[in-house]
Amino acid sequence: MSVLDHLLSPLKVRNMELPNRAVMPPMGTNLGNDDATVSEAYLAYISRQSKSGAGLIIVEVAAVHPSGASIDSELGIYDDRFIEGLKKVAAVIHEGGGKAAIQLHHAGRESSFLLRRGEAIAPSAVPSVVYRQSAREMTIDEIKEIIASFGKAAIRAREAGFDAVEVHGAHGYLLAQFLSALSNIRDDQYGGSIENRARFTIEILEEVRKSVGDDYPVSLRLSAEEFIKNGYMVEDLLPILPDLVKAGADIIHASIGTHGSPAGITSAPSEYEPGFNAWRAGKFKEVVDLPVISVGRYNDPAEANDVIARGDADLVAFGRQTLADPDYLTKAKEGRPEDIRKCIACNQGCIERLMAGEGKIRCAINPETGQELLYPKGPAKVSRRVWIVGAGPAGLTAAYEASRLGHDVTLFEKEENPGGQLRFAGIPPNKEVYTDWMNWLVAQVEKKGVEIKTGFEVTDEMIEEGKPEVVILATGGQKITPPIKGIDLPMVVDIWQILSGEVQPGENVVVIGGGWVGMEAADFLIDAGSKVTVVEILKRSPVRKLFSHGYMLHKRLRDAGAELLLNTSIESIQEGSLKVECEGKEETISPVDQVVIAVGLKPCDELKQTLLNKGIRHYVVGDAAEVRRIIEATEEGAKAAWDL
Ligand SMILES: Cc1cc2nc3c(=O)[nH]c(=O)nc-3n(C[C@H](O)[C@H](O)[C@H](O)COP(=O)(O)OP(=O)(O)OC[C@H]3O[C@@H](n4cnc5c(N)ncnc54)[C@H](O)[C@@H]3O)c2cc1C
Ligand SMILES: Cc1cc2nc3c(=O)[nH]c(=O)nc-3n(C[C@H](O)[C@H](O)[C@H](O)COP(=O)(O)O)c2cc1C
Repeated sequence: MSVLDHLLSPLKVRNMELPNRAVMPPMGTNLGNDDATVSEAYLAYISRQSKSGAGLIIVEVAAVHPSGASIDSELGIYDDRFIEGLKKVAAVIHEGGGKAAIQLHHAGRESSFLLRRGEAIAPSAVPSVVYRQSAREMTIDEIKEIIASFGKAAIRAREAGFDAVEVHGAHGYLLAQFLSALSNIRDDQYGGSIENRARFTIEILEEVRKSVGDDYPVSLRLSAEEFIKNGYMVEDLLPILPDLVKAGADIIHASIGTHGSPAGITSAPSEYEPGFNAWRAGKFKEVVDLPVISVGRYNDPAEANDVIARGDADLVAFGRQTLADPDYLTKAKEGRPEDIRKCIACNQGCIERLMAGEGKIRCAINPETGQELLYPKGPAKVSRRVWIVGAGPAGLTAAYEASRLGHDVTLFEKEENPGGQLRFAGIPPNKEVYTDWMNWLVAQVEKKGVEIKTGFEVTDEMIEEGKPEVVILATGGQKITPPIKGIDLPMVVDIWQILSGEVQPGENVVVIGGGWVGMEAADFLIDAGSKVTVVEILKRSPVRKLFSHGYMLHKRLRDAGAELLLNTSIESIQEGSLKVECEGKEETISPVDQVVIAVGLKPCDELKQTLLNKGIRHYVVGDAAEVRRIIEATEEGAKAAWDL
């Protein structure tokens, strides 16, 4: 029996025959046109994602009513004019060999743009936890109108060629707002008991079933647990599940979380294990006899297979994993799971990018995602002799892409080991996945036949002698030593010395710099038993709690009793203590036996002048251009390679 037998076995749901049990769950991309129609970029994206070979591809949220979009470019399915574009979506999904579903959505109060315009509607006028604004309470007529709009949307989906629809009852959107006692305080037949709060979802399912007929499959996505203070738990849902099935659900998609759930549990960070949510799907299966989809951090088809084998679920969804590597299933089927680029759950290019309004979907470790229209298939017309200087994420990604396109690549790294800052990024607690990704990247570059010349520091003379045709400068950042009295004392070290184990953590430690790296260093020190104070000059922590890993970092530091001093600058360091100015007042921190510098880096781009002087074509990418994050490093590394 193969390790994938269960995952790869077919499944029939009403008239839909799925070739296997891998699912791509709905993921909003922000790739739609401003008028809510399907864009070329979206088609290219969904076409590539569908090549995963997953049995079921569920297209992202599509608004069933103009009052229901969460962002203004959300795909629309509330009018016949959308059918033409949606037909193309269903068609490209079918080309990938899987079945196509689309998620029918109403955001209710979780629509910042409609809230701003005063046009958002909800079961009750209770403020959104995230946007802190209330929507207008729906009248019974409006409830009926929205129920009807789900039915009409389902008919459009079927007309566009979709094999199924999914009703979005999860994540704090309108149906979930009705289901939750926190957002539904109505005193009519739609509020009060769980049976009453479920009525809206039940009537929607009945309407959809009536609209599409008996043989058309309908999935219902639910958050198995709200995962918020006083929210509902999985046990609370169990009594209503049979009614939801009776009303028309053929599949239950067991997700988790709501708007405002701590640590963005819906797209859980690396603190959560793959499959952490499977047991809740298993609970559903105890009370209803229909296929259940498990979702949450899956990045390994073999693990997904085990979940199905042990009976917790019938299907498994791979969300961010598909963004990170749409070929994950093919690679597993071909017996080369080590080639899978596993999602690291950083959320940088996907959910948190969308939440922060940073643009359209990307993936921090897969530069193709969201850029399918730019992504060159290769080979390049002209093969260039390219030197890549620096084997951090920018240089390694550039090397991978350039060699994939057929260029003649030499990759230099001055250290004994490749990886750049990733050699340290994977050391703090819960970040091992970064080391896994680094090892994957190094192995893949080597598989492409690129020799990584470690222990080679590229100098002006080497460039003079080697005469490369093009140079990609991916030399990263260099340390900054802040001009503080006492910075030369032996008790002062930097994060690299601590994380690498070169210096043992002290007992009473002050970390200077409360950015991501400083906070992670503090987390590491706490794990090692140190008592930690973090000093940050800014008034607000640069590590935002809105982001899942940021939330977890703040929580762990708080729970461990670490102090985070904001709006504080260091005046001087002396044996045993630090003088600081904290919110305008002079204070002393003591006892202190170790000070760890975590004030960041500045670009290391000295070779640039030589390249300019010699007129050698070059690109400066990643931290060498401006010290930032992994997503910029990989994107710029890739784009330089694509441009060669
Ligand atoms: C502890 C820690 C945790 C982090 N966590 C995160 C995180 O969670 N998310 C995130 O987005 N970012 C994180 N970062 C930052 C992230 O690692 C960097 O932004 C990223 O590595 C930058 O990539 P790069 O390739 O541009 O540069 P680097 O990773 O710095 O790589 C540059 C490489 O060039 C080499 N080099 C320099 N000069 C030469 C030369 N002349 N010849 C040959 N080689 C040379 C260097 O030795 C180095 O290996 C973290 C950083 C640290 C230290
Ligand atoms: C970028 C992004 C957009 C998402 N959009 C939707 C959506 O449109 N509808 C939905 O039900 N869930 C949405 N989700 C949640 C995913 O479907 C999925 O449940 C979640 O990411 C957990 O699965 P994973 O760990 O495999 O990524 C989104 C997640 C991401 C990362």
